[in-house]
Amino acid sequence: MSITSFSSFTDGLDPLRRSREHFITNTSLDDERFWVPYADGVWFQPCCFNVTSGGFSVVLKGLPGRRVGTHYHVGIVHGYTMRGHWRYLEHDWIAKPGTYIYEPAGERIRW
Ligand SMILES: [Fe+2]
Repeated sequence: MSITSFSSFTDGLDPLRRSREHFITNTSLDDERFWVPYADGVWFQPCCFNVTSGGFSVVLKGLPGRRVGTHYHVGIVHGYTMRGHWRYLEHDWIAKPGTYIYEPAGERIRW
């Protein structure tokens, strides 16, 4: 079942007062201290939380055979697979190293 309606929000900021600065995030994929538990055998490292748009970017890591339960994508998803392979139970494609994926907002999904 797809989500068909969204509630929008405003951050209440004057557009001219929002930060327009560039920034970088240095992840540390080999340092276990930086991985945030997400599900059993699945972690993420945050890269960006956009408080203006509500979007976020993370590096996601899952051990072989682990799954993430049903969740909802309230925004679009861009994904790039660096290692291993994975898929959603609702689709027939398999993401491998080098695979880029785009998912429209509103999906109810499991992997
Ligand atoms: Fe997801």
